[in-house]
Amino acid sequence: MVAITEAVSLEKQGEIGMLWIDNPPVNALGFPVRKGMADGIDMAMKDDTIKALVVICKGRTFCAGADIREFGKPPQAPHLPDVLKVFDQATKPVIAAIHGTAFGGGLETALSSHYRIAVPTAQFGLPEVKLGLLPGAGGTQRLPRLIGPEKALPMIATGNPIGAAQALKEGVIDEIAEGDLAEAAVAFARKVLAEKRPLRQVSAMTEKVEAARKTPEIFADYRNVLAKTKRGFEAPEACVKAVEAAVNLPFDEGMATERKLFEGLMRGSQSAAQRYYFFAERQVAKIPDIPKDTPLLDIKKVGVIGAGTMGGGITMNFINAGIPVTLVETKQEFLDRGIGVIKKNYDITAAKGKMTQQAVDQRMGLITGTTKMEDLADVDLVIEAVYENMDLKKEIFKKLDAICKKDAILATNTSYLDVNEIAAQTSRPEFVIGLHFFSPANVMRLLEIVRAAKTSKTVLATSLALGKRIKKIAAVVGVCYGFAGNRMFAQRKRECDKLVLEGALPAQIDKVIFDFGFPMGPFALYDLIGLDLGWSKETTTSDSIRDLLCEQGRFGLKNSKGYYNYEKGGRKPLPAPEIEQLIIDFSKKKGFTRRDISDEEILQRCIYPIINEGAKILEEKIAVRPSDLDVIWINGYGWPVYSGGPMFYADLVGLDKILAVLKKFQAEQGDDFKPAPLLEKLVKEGKNFSSLNT
Ligand SMILES: NC(=O)c1ccc[n+]([C@@H]2O[C@H](COP(=O)([O-])OP(=O)(O)OC[C@H]3O[C@@H](n4cnc5c(N)ncnc54)[C@H](O)[C@@H]3O)[C@@H](O)[C@H]2O)c1
Repeated sequence: MVAITEAVSLEKQGEIGMLWIDNPPVNALGFPVRKGMADGIDMAMKDDTIKALVVICKGRTFCAGADIREFGKPPQAPHLPDVLKVFDQATKPVIAAIHGTAFGGGLETALSSHYRIAVPTAQFGLPEVKLGLLPGAGGTQRLPRLIGPEKALPMIATGNPIGAAQALKEGVIDEIAEGDLAEAAVAFARKVLAEKRPLRQVSAMTEKVEAARKTPEIFADYRNVLAKTKRGFEAPEACVKAVEAAVNLPFDEGMATERKLFEGLMRGSQSAAQRYYFFAERQVAKIPDIPKDTPLLDIKKVGVIGAGTMGGGITMNFINAGIPVTLVETKQEFLDRGIGVIKKNYDITAAKGKMTQQAVDQRMGLITGTTKMEDLADVDLVIEAVYENMDLKKEIFKKLDAICKKDAILATNTSYLDVNEIAAQTSRPEFVIGLHFFSPANVMRLLEIVRAAKTSKTVLATSLALGKRIKKIAAVVGVCYGFAGNRMFAQRKRECDKLVLEGALPAQIDKVIFDFGFPMGPFALYDLIGLDLGWSKETTTSDSIRDLLCEQGRFGLKNSKGYYNYEKGGRKPLPAPEIEQLIIDFSKKKGFTRRDISDEEILQRCIYPIINEGAKILEEKIAVRPSDLDVIWINGYGWPVYSGGPMFYADLVGLDKILAVLKKFQAEQGDDFKPAPLLEKLVKEGKNFSSLNT
């Protein structure tokens, strides 16, 4: 065994050279690996006793891709595309032997080899697009040549991986290795030699791309798919352009196009935002005063109180993770209805073939329904999800304190109420916490963990660990009205309601917010949630547009009329001229002189107060860091990841500009726009929100 660099060594097994890569933890393609691979191949080509070369990794995986820690640093030669050219032009067969994952640069390395063999559990993918990039070391040029552009397009433009069986079927790999990979790879190399197989240089393959030149519609078709699934993202379109280049240009020119497209994305703000978000999501679980070794409580059984919209969804999270749930309701009929909704959700999934009937039964078997709170005596955690009413919640927590085990966590799913006040009803406020799920709770990934004044570190750490177990992205926030997410969201709601009185119409506001990248506009969202939520015939005052709509029996999507009209059973908002007139009449009655409002003003009025509120939240230490607020908005409120969340977006726009616009609005409209002192301070110091990310 000859060491070539600290990460790569060359071994001989008879006439087969074995180039071993050993760069823990994931054999990322950092400098010692790139240099070792280039020099190792060179050495093997010059060694007459070596007839074929196997490239194989130690540890848990094949090269897992580019070393993300090298992003943003000056690149150090040899660069990956140059190293892969050495693979490509090797004069003896080079065989990539793959286990674990071959992602990104890892797969590009394999594609530059002449043959590929993999263990049955191996996975293959080009996930660069998920960071707003494209594979920049020939992946967009070699994969279409190897398997054809139709199959290559989704792999490159969605970044979703495939398994070994599919990779074999599609021609990404040549053989699946049964048993020991190194032995199988040596045997495969010997077979290549014995059969005198040619050097299969992927860069020289033309058959599949030439065929595709006659069917240019595959690109138009795929762009249609992307328009629906990746609206607003730049990288997927760049991926399509790169594959088009693979089809229409000679290999070297295609490589040059790929490079140009890659560099364009690398310079752009979308990839910066997506790479920032990648780290933000990892950072959010780190709480400065909660050490990694904080003792945890064992959560084996959970109680949920209330089988309504939230309680049902929350229950599904736990039974999906195999954790039994005792579900409490006031009446058997409410319990039956709640459990029925859960069952129906699973049945729909099963009907789509995404779940077996056995799995449905097994999960439903983990629910114990009851109308007796006393049945919560043996659970390790209770989540209360009854109506948003302080007196009711207080009463429930008093009862829970008497019923539950001394070390059971008592959590509330309240959206706005004071968790300290709820905790004070118990003799164990250190065991009380807010676990704020988002609707639909079985789908939305965000979980706000509300740390109350007396919540213990163990209870907080246990909640964070539990969040991970039920596959949520948990962000820790402090107690205040609406916590972080809803408190910021209230700003947008207030401005939208004002804007329609001043002169904008719901359709214009919705278009601005939709075009910004949210899945839907605010008024379409109100219709979806239901306008009658929290409204009642008895207490209505006819003093808001919402009241007027509800008084006319317009409750939103649920009865096909709200701010918009809907076809029966349809979900697409259709114009409602009668409601536009109602809005115009109401605003005039309220004394407004309606004016034309620009899209720019709408965007700034809807977005800048969110950022300003975020700054106040940071000042009050309700959130740990700005990037946590971005994680909350991306996962809980549909903020597009390609602009990084409100705080990252603020840095992109420039805090000085945001401050100036807020001051202008403040002069025109009053203190709804009063700048947060933190924003003023950052601007004065020439800093941005990112400087506060720890
Ligand atoms: N709906 C949302 O979008 C959303 C999102 C996040 C948080 N929340 C919060 O979650 C909580 C529940 O909201 P929801 O939308 O699920 O309400 P919901 O009205 O759909 O469900 C509440 C359920 O609680 C039951 N209930 C009432 N009193 C009870 C008691 N004493 N014991 C047992 N069950 C009782 C009711 O019968 C009802 O089924 C509220 O605090 C709300 O603010 C709601």
